Amino acid sequence: MGSVSESDEMHRLFDKTAKVYDQSGVEFFGPIGRRLVEFANLSAGASVLDVGCGRGAALLPAAAAVGPDGEAVGIDISEEMTRYATEAVREHGLGHVSVSVMDGRAPAFPVGRFDAVVGSCSLFIWTKNADHLRPYRELLRPGGTFATAAPSFFSTLQGKWALFPDIVNDLLMPYMLRSLKQSGSYDSQFAEAGTNWLATPELIEQTLTEAGFVGAVVREEDLPVVVESGEQWVEFTYTTGMRGMWERIEDEKERTELVAEVCRRLDGIKDGSGAITTHVPIVYMRAQTPGVD
Ligand SMILES: C[S@@+](CC[C@H](N)C(=O)[O-])C[C@H]1O[C@@H](n2cnc3c(N)ncnc32)[C@H](O)[C@@H]1O
Repeated sequence: MGSVSESDEMHRLFDKTAKVYDQSGVEFFGPIGRRLVEFANLSAGASVLDVGCGRGAALLPAAAAVGPDGEAVGIDISEEMTRYATEAVREHGLGHVSVSVMDGRAPAFPVGRFDAVVGSCSLFIWTKNADHLRPYRELLRPGGTFATAAPSFFSTLQGKWALFPDIVNDLLMPYMLRSLKQSGSYDSQFAEAGTNWLATPELIEQTLTEAGFVGAVVREEDLPVVVESGEQWVEFTYTTGMRGMWERIEDEKERTELVAEVCRRLDGIKDGSGAITTHVPIVYMRAQTPGVD
């Protein structure tokens, strides 16, 4: 499921990004986290674990869904992310929420500890097969819920990166693939288009079943992402994991020219109100641990 040096790489990327993470003014992780929590059908009073909680996009809605009689636990490998999540929890005065630094690949909790395990735009980074999903099944009580969200990989079969607006996909895709290969990071599964477990709805269902879950539900939904300009879209990508792609373009002139062309193309698709709407397909997946007979 990835080596220590791969997780160091991930750790560094997210520590560095944490301060600006999801702070560009573009609505992205917030709506996905809220939708994931709704999709997970969390009950009041439930105990939920959010793996790779970041600054709390799913953790805070999960805390609201389970209410003060429940419990929401967030873990993340990045200290910086957990620092911001802890601040948000404090600001909201949530006594039933805790956040800690922990490697989500090996969550250190007792078997059957939670009613639900969720992960918004996180688990897909390091899970590659059913073996990697089993730890989450083990953390759940019988009949517990596992639910996760990820940018859809279905379009990678057609050479399209779901996070890129169509109009700039041909420009950016080669850089993204190169960056992933160079990084050696465990998210290099992105580069393995068509073979990772998220490539099709059927593979997702099959993998969840192999991991010991039942009743898998897979849903791809369109997330409209609205920006004011091409420049704001580029800024937004810098506040996400896509930052790695830009930073690995060492030649400054090449990067500047690429950014200018991306901005030019995006500014060319402004609507009458001056906004640019791009459509990002997000996949929501849910399954249960077998219940007691
Ligand atoms: C794209 S962000 C999503 C954060 C948050 N769930 C959200 O929706 O805003 C991915 C998160 O996964 C975390 N992460 C990456 N590898 C991890 C690991 N092995 N264990 C726990 N968290 C990890 C990163 O630090 C980052 O906060």
